[in-house]
Amino acid sequence: MGWGMDSPGLFADLAAQRACWHPVAFASEISDRPVHADLLGEPLVVWRGASGTLRAMSDLCVHRGTALSLGWIKGDELVCAYHGWRYGADGRCVAIPQKEDPTVVPAKARVRAFGVQERYGLVWVALDEPRWPLPEVPELETGDWMTVPAGPYRWHCDAGRQVENFTDFGHFPWVHPGLLGDPERPVVPRHEVQADGHVLRYEIVRPEAPNRDDFPVFGNDQAGPPERRSRYELHLPYTIALRLGWGGERGMVYLFASQPAAADRCAGYVVIGRNYQLDQDDRVIQDFEDTIFGQDQVVVESQRPERVPFDLAAELHLKFDAVAVAYRKAMRAAGLAAGPP
Ligand code: FES
Ligand SMILES: [Fe+2]
Repeated sequence: MGWGMDSPGLFADLAAQRACWHPVAFASEISDRPVHADLLGEPLVVWRGASGTLRAMSDLCVHRGTALSLGWIKGDELVCAYHGWRYGADGRCVAIPQKEDPTVVPAKARVRAFGVQERYGLVWVALDEPRWPLPEVPELETGDWMTVPAGPYRWHCDAGRQVENFTDFGHFPWVHPGLLGDPERPVVPRHEVQADGHVLRYEIVRPEAPNRDDFPVFGNDQAGPPERRSRYELHLPYTIALRLGWGGERGMVYLFASQPAAADRCAGYVVIGRNYQLDQDDRVIQDFEDTIFGQDQVVVESQRPERVPFDLAAELHLKFDAVAVAYRKAMRAAGLAAGPP
C-alpha cells in the first residue's frame, strides 16, 4: 500500500481496520449469485450457502487467481468459473474436477474465509477477529418502525472523509440550503463530544429547517417548538447512529456506515428508520438522500488529501469543529491511524 503524493503524514491504518466490522453490501443484494466487494484493498466474494447463511471469502481462486465472484453457487459450495474447482464455506477447496478422484485435494488448495454477519439489512465483514461489536440500533429491528435503505454512495475519498462529512455541522447551510440548513443561520449550535471508548457521543439542537414540498421526509409537523434534536453516536472507525427527534413521539434514526473499499475509495450505506409516515413510498426519502449525498460528493471529492489527515496540525480546526477534532484524536488513540512505517 503506497502512501501517495500526500505523504508523509498520519492517515487511516488499513491493517488496523481489519479487526473492525465494515459493511460490504446490502443484504438484499446477495441472493443466488456470488457478489464481489472490496474491503481495505482486499477483493472479497460474498455469497449465501444452502441455508441462506452468508459467506465471505477471498475473491481469488487459489488455482489461477480468477475472481470466484464470476462463478456460481452449487448447494453449499462455490464453483470457480474457470476450471470448476469447488470451495466450501470455510474456504477449503473440496473438489478438483480435472483429477481422477476429484475429492483428493491438496491442503494448500484453500482461500481465506472471513467473519461475516447480516444485521440492519447490511452485510458486515471483519477480516480479522473484531475488537468491538456492532452498534445497537433497536429501532431498526422492531417491526413498528419502517426502514428504508439508501445508497451505497461510492466516493473517491477515504471512508474517514465521508464519515466526517456526514457529521460536519458547519456545512449544512452552505451545501444543503433549504434542505438541511438555512444560509441566514450559519452559526453552529454549541455541542460537546463525550468520548467513551471507541464511541463518541454528542448532540445538537437547532431550529428546524421546514420540510420542502418536494421532500416531505421529516417528522416535524407536531406540537412544540420548531426544533430538531440530533443525537449522534459515532462508532469508530466508520459507523454513525443518528437519532432525530422533535420533542414528541415521532422519531427518526439514521444508521450510516462507510465501507473502506481501499485507501482512497469508500461506499456509504444508509439505513433510515422512522415511526411515522409508515406508508410513504421509499422513493421519497431515497430521492432526498440521493440529493444530499450528491451535493456532498462534489465537495468532498475535491478535498486534498483524499484521506483524513489525523495529525491535528494538518488542517485548521475551530471550536465548532469539535467532532472532527475528537474523531481524529480517538482514531489515533485506538491505533486506527498511523504514520508511514
Ligand atoms: S482458476 Fe479457479 S479453478 Fe482454475
Ligand atoms: Fe452534507
